[in-house]
Amino acid sequence: MKNIVVLVSGGGTNLQALIDAEKRGEIKGGKITCVISSKEGAYALERAAQNGIKGIVLPRKDYADSHEYSKAMLETLQAENADIIVYAGFMTILDEQVCRAYPYKMVNVHPALIPSFCGKGYYGLKVHEEALARGVKVTGATVHFVTEVCDGGPIILQKAVEIQNGDTPEILQRRVMEQAEWKILPKAVSLLCEDKIRIENGVAYAEE
Ligand code: GAR
Repeated sequence: MKNIVVLVSGGGTNLQALIDAEKRGEIKGGKITCVISSKEGAYALERAAQNGIKGIVLPRKDYADSHEYSKAMLETLQAENADIIVYAGFMTILDEQVCRAYPYKMVNVHPALIPSFCGKGYYGLKVHEEALARGVKVTGATVHFVTEVCDGGPIILQKAVEIQNGDTPEILQRRVMEQAEWKILPKAVSLLCEDKIRIENGVAYAEE
């Protein structure tokens, strides 16, 4: 069984989707062993506690810069014997120290169809505001490997979601979560735990 460590910063609905999938036996070959939050008081920590999962707070604000924070995160991940690391609404960028220590072992869920509406500055509700402002008719979510390039690692799974007349960023965010994120994140994590993802020339291929 691989140790899955989930990184969070907020409400943790994606963490909840992972916990629920694990309970249904849908995370094959892995177990959520620890949740690390970059923010004190994140509701995601409550969800971890309610499910008997160890929670650790590593506040981003306690560290001078990304390098120092990444160093502390790497030490924590190693102490927790992390095999697979999942960014589930984790709003902090970790530098190459962490990415290089876990090549193709870290995944992120992004609330858009990469390469649209992604990269530095595109996170949370902002992504949906931009999609609506641009007037796209289809958006969605992406699960991809985390590399040194923000939202730039190989894409594992994507799912499209239609935009409807009258959508607000909040309504769209919820639909993208329900129809896409909460489905593809547990699936991608399970595939990774089962070693069913291969990389060729920088492209990820998932065996269904
Ligand atoms: C999710 O929509 C996730 O895709 C997004 O933040 C939300 C977190 O919700 N992540 C990013 O924008 C990362 N770039 P959650 O805490 O309820 O899972």
